Amino acid sequence: MSFFFSMIQKILPQSILRKFHKRKMEDIFQQGYNDFELSGKTSDEAYQRLISLYCYSNGYSTEAFHQKIRHKNPPKIISSNLQGVLGEVSIGSFNAINKNLDKNGYVEFDKKLNRDILERLYDFALQTGAKIPPEYDSKIIYDVASPRAEIYRFDIQDLIDNVDIQSLIMDPTLINIARNYLKCEPIFDFPAMWWSTSFSKKASSEAAQLYHFDMDRIKWLKVFFYINDVNEENGPHCYIEGTHKAGTKPMEILQRGYARISDEDLRPYYKPEDFKVLCAKAGTIFAGDTKCWHKGTALKTGHRLVLEFEYTSSLFGANIPKMQVKNTSPAFFDFCLNNKVYASNIEFINNKL
Ligand SMILES: [Fe+2]
Repeated sequence: MSFFFSMIQKILPQSILRKFHKRKMEDIFQQGYNDFELSGKTSDEAYQRLISLYCYSNGYSTEAFHQKIRHKNPPKIISSNLQGVLGEVSIGSFNAINKNLDKNGYVEFDKKLNRDILERLYDFALQTGAKIPPEYDSKIIYDVASPRAEIYRFDIQDLIDNVDIQSLIMDPTLINIARNYLKCEPIFDFPAMWWSTSFSKKASSEAAQLYHFDMDRIKWLKVFFYINDVNEENGPHCYIEGTHKAGTKPMEILQRGYARISDEDLRPYYKPEDFKVLCAKAGTIFAGDTKCWHKGTALKTGHRLVLEFEYTSSLFGANIPKMQVKNTSPAFFDFCLNNKVYASNIEFINNKL
């Protein structure tokens, strides 16, 4: 540190220094966002600023930035009931879901995925290779009788070619929930699916089994589908209610940055009833803003198969390659053709969009 800077630090009050530092980070972030608009790529420095600004401002800066950019893709106006995987959903029900998401960060839906699609997705997961830590290089088939890792992650490319997943990506009820929450036309960011296993009986950082918040984008919403029954034994998803909102995380914990945090470290800051555990039957669908503190749980026995979608307001952030569809249903191709913003992260290999 230069002599000049250390002198300034001694003379100026901390509050002014903090404002100066925050302003400097915001400028770098804004410049990084402008570059992203031209190139479609996020520089590592700009992405790091997204995370550090979030921690520094306890979420207020990133929320303010989302309010600024969301007008670029105004939401479609939906004025009648929509039919989809959540059944027939009225405008009033959509409003109630959105109110719940805003307040609590998560909503569990009554309607479940039907048996047929669950069976097909389960079979797909048993027959498709997935990658395991620490290298995540080659794909191996998950052997239920003898797991080789605590997590098996499927490739996005294999998921996007699955016609059942394509049908869920097109689901109007889920899209409208994302649209309302993000207050803009959402972009479908990616599908993810993974097995969590009881290979290691203690909490794994690799398998996100310690509390953390996600920060791949400026604002997003995730939808989770439990493909098998999930109980206390096989790794239920946990979250701390309301902690998706700006200003709700302890600054002394945020100073650790983008880190994994133990239950003990977070317990003093929240009421016991705010620690939620999502045990539910196969087919259960829930939406959540994973900016909140959340985690999986170490499995004592069995396994858990989860499918997850991410909807985002912008692709600024983590540089994930565009999805390239090799196998498409005609309906999915037409849908993407007619929903250019939503499908802006999807490319078709054999057909032209
Ligand atoms: Fe996460």
